[in-house]
Amino acid sequence: LRARLFKPLNNDGLDPETVLRELVADAREGIHGNAGGRFFGWVIGGAVPAALAADWMTSVWDQNAGMFTVAPAASVVEEAAGVWLKDLLGLPARASFALVTGCQMAHVTCLAAARNGLLHTRGIDVERDGLSGAPAIRILTSCERHGSVERAVRLLGLGVACIRDLPVNEEGQLVPQALEQALAASDAPTIVILQAGDLNIGAFDDFATLIPMAKRAGAWVHIDGAFGLWAAASPKYRHLLTGAEQADSWATDGHKWLNVPYDSGFAFVADGLPHRRAMSHRAAYLAFDDAARDQVEWNPEYSRRARGFATYAAIRQLGRNGVAEIVENCCAAARAIVDGLGTLEGVEVLWTPTINQGLVRFPAGSGSSEAEHGRNTDEIIAAIVSDGGAFFGGTNWRGKRAMRISVSNWQTGAEEVQCAVETVDRVLASRRRRL
Ligand SMILES: Cc1ncc(COP(=O)(O)O)c(C=O)c1O
Repeated sequence: LRARLFKPLNNDGLDPETVLRELVADAREGIHGNAGGRFFGWVIGGAVPAALAADWMTSVWDQNAGMFTVAPAASVVEEAAGVWLKDLLGLPARASFALVTGCQMAHVTCLAAARNGLLHTRGIDVERDGLSGAPAIRILTSCERHGSVERAVRLLGLGVACIRDLPVNEEGQLVPQALEQALAASDAPTIVILQAGDLNIGAFDDFATLIPMAKRAGAWVHIDGAFGLWAAASPKYRHLLTGAEQADSWATDGHKWLNVPYDSGFAFVADGLPHRRAMSHRAAYLAFDDAARDQVEWNPEYSRRARGFATYAAIRQLGRNGVAEIVENCCAAARAIVDGLGTLEGVEVLWTPTINQGLVRFPAGSGSSEAEHGRNTDEIIAAIVSDGGAFFGGTNWRGKRAMRISVSNWQTGAEEVQCAVETVDRVLASRRRRL
């Protein structure tokens, strides 16, 4: 790719068609097929047609969606999408929101609101005075949390040393007694971060027990629901989120399970005041419209892409039932793939999906060490990827190397499931023949 794409900087311009033709040709083999239905590595959804087309229009219109006066339709579309999103995700209608680049920045936005809110109740204006002189904030969360939480904490100047990872049970849920003890151990301002769908097994914390516990101790509760929050859209899986609506903030993605093209995350905050205090911005040269929603008041950005169009279009295309259908189909497909793999010689199922995440591994044979099982698993994952019939990735889980089965694409159906299982079968058979 470097040999093709690192061209000398041209002095004179080229005609646009040549530029495009060359770009497409030079990028060949460097474009992953992750938008397709046989991609099961990471939680990478595809793009439903209306969202993809609206994303093209977003580029064509090229609106700066920071404020209503600059991009009126973009502002109102985001406002409407925010209302729909809260409804679909079972969040309080009064919650404030921001359409951001992804769950990473949704964490930053929500935790900035948390930082403001917790310190405000202690008489500290963190936006004016910063953190020096403020009591140290601590974060209590699960040891299976996603790394994006850590980076949000770094960006907000809280420092990762303030994170205390608490143990989880067999189902990957934060242990209530551990949280209770940690809460009681200090009266420091506290953020509790819970999970709706952890990255390996899609575990959901017991919100109905943990959130009231955290609230009694005066903590701010934030939920990382990058993909799992979408379970709320499905009558079949909604129960996993019982009590989640009592949190103070929620972060999720549009570019995962909603199948919106990349650059789509959502932050929600139950009390809009700390959210607005953390993000708002005013300048004399900007024309604010108090009757409208100016995104610059809620987002960690100034000039920004009108990313609401794609979300709006995805929700319109799918409707309430279509979103539920994607969630349920993906869960069924994940289950079918893991069940199918479980019938093959040389596969050990480590986690049967409860939602859209499963884990298997490929043991090296009896008497082998953990490292040998891991090496074998990695070699087989690499062979599956180079076969091209399906794409899976590896992970470490509870001391074992495993292959993740993540299903979040609207195009994954029975044919893709069959192809995935046949691909693994083919790779294992050819390996057996060679050994
Ligand atoms: C559980 C979880 N949280 C947060 C993230 C970060 O989301 P994003 O990549 O959209 O910033 C991811 C995945 O990427 C995730 O799986």
